[in-house]
Amino acid sequence: MEGQKCLGISKGDLDTPCLVIDEEVLEQNIRVMQAHVKNFGKQLRPHAKTHKCSQIAGRQMAAGCVGICVAKVSEAEVLVEKGFREILITSPLGADSKIQRFLDCVARAPELMGVVDSPAGACRLNEAGEGRSQPINVLVDLDPGMGRTGIPFQEALDLGIHIHRLPSLRLRGVQCYAGHVQHIPSFQEREKTSLDWMHQAADIFHKFRESGLPGEIFTGSGTGTFDIDCRIPELTDLQTGSYTLMDAEYLNIGSSLDPFRFVQFPPALTLLTTVISANHPDFVTVDAGLKALYHHGATPTVIQPPGSSLTYEWWGDEHGRIRTNQGGRKPMVGEVIELAVSHCDPTVNLFDSFHIIRDGILTDIWPIDMRGRCQ
Ligand SMILES: Cc1ncc(COP(=O)(O)O)c(C=O)c1O
Repeated sequence: MEGQKCLGISKGDLDTPCLVIDEEVLEQNIRVMQAHVKNFGKQLRPHAKTHKCSQIAGRQMAAGCVGICVAKVSEAEVLVEKGFREILITSPLGADSKIQRFLDCVARAPELMGVVDSPAGACRLNEAGEGRSQPINVLVDLDPGMGRTGIPFQEALDLGIHIHRLPSLRLRGVQCYAGHVQHIPSFQEREKTSLDWMHQAADIFHKFRESGLPGEIFTGSGTGTFDIDCRIPELTDLQTGSYTLMDAEYLNIGSSLDPFRFVQFPPALTLLTTVISANHPDFVTVDAGLKALYHHGATPTVIQPPGSSLTYEWWGDEHGRIRTNQGGRKPMVGEVIELAVSHCDPTVNLFDSFHIIRDGILTDIWPIDMRGRCQ
């Protein structure tokens, strides 16, 4: 069942394991997030690391977002090739070869922005950019106590001043993404922690402006704090990613509307898996294991059959186990089970395409064209 030949078949007849997207839910999630940021007078710069699909990025741009974030230069290359211009690469660059690839992208898309988190990194980028007709757009990447990338808050102003003096670079503002806060289960605790870090980042942003540095952009935030960080007046745009597709990791944390569930964005992405063996009284074996579902984050959740007492258990490379709890009905061989995936980003990276479903029918197949782009 390759390519466009199978358009029009019903979802249950797709070959498994495969990723499906409910197009109506995707559209709704894009619409809800866009309306939310607009309501707070902010912009949306969504992260494409979640879906790795230029077609979804295109829909986000069409909905009104100000640009698209990517994590890697190789992802930016795909978007530039597809005609995207307002792109932010949210990780600092390391190797010289990567800086060169970045500059090749800038040559085709001068609006492209990078982030810098050290004076040495700024100097390397500045030297590489010497002789170019246009300066390279950069943000100072702030570290909100996560320690992954970013400069500590107390050193950020000096870095900003340093960058501002470098002729090949054009400082635009700051980035602050608190990844370690996004999945805190309690909404109240997440709220308190995120506001604390983002207020500190806002202070830096103020200091930039008071010192005469360009303070145009203060970008950050993720899906877990989308309705928290909007309350920071200085934040100009949100980088939320997972809200488009969603996963069990997000669905199982509290939100402002429900202490145990993140209900604002339903799962647009699911994985279909088929029962291939049912010889045991308490469980059946399905055809999706570690090679189809990334083993990080929450355990995949059974969505279909609905309200069921079925739970997914990891069972090696090729297989999973669906356990029948509370005397529920045991699925039969050949039956298709639908799962919310554990963690959407790395699961998406395991597949070549999304199967697009509307009213239970396959209407399109979208290539995951940034899949494997981890350089
Ligand atoms: C820098 C950055 N911004 C934004 C996001 C999007 O976060 P989320 O998927 O939680 O919405 C990520 C995700 O890891 C990220 O690394």
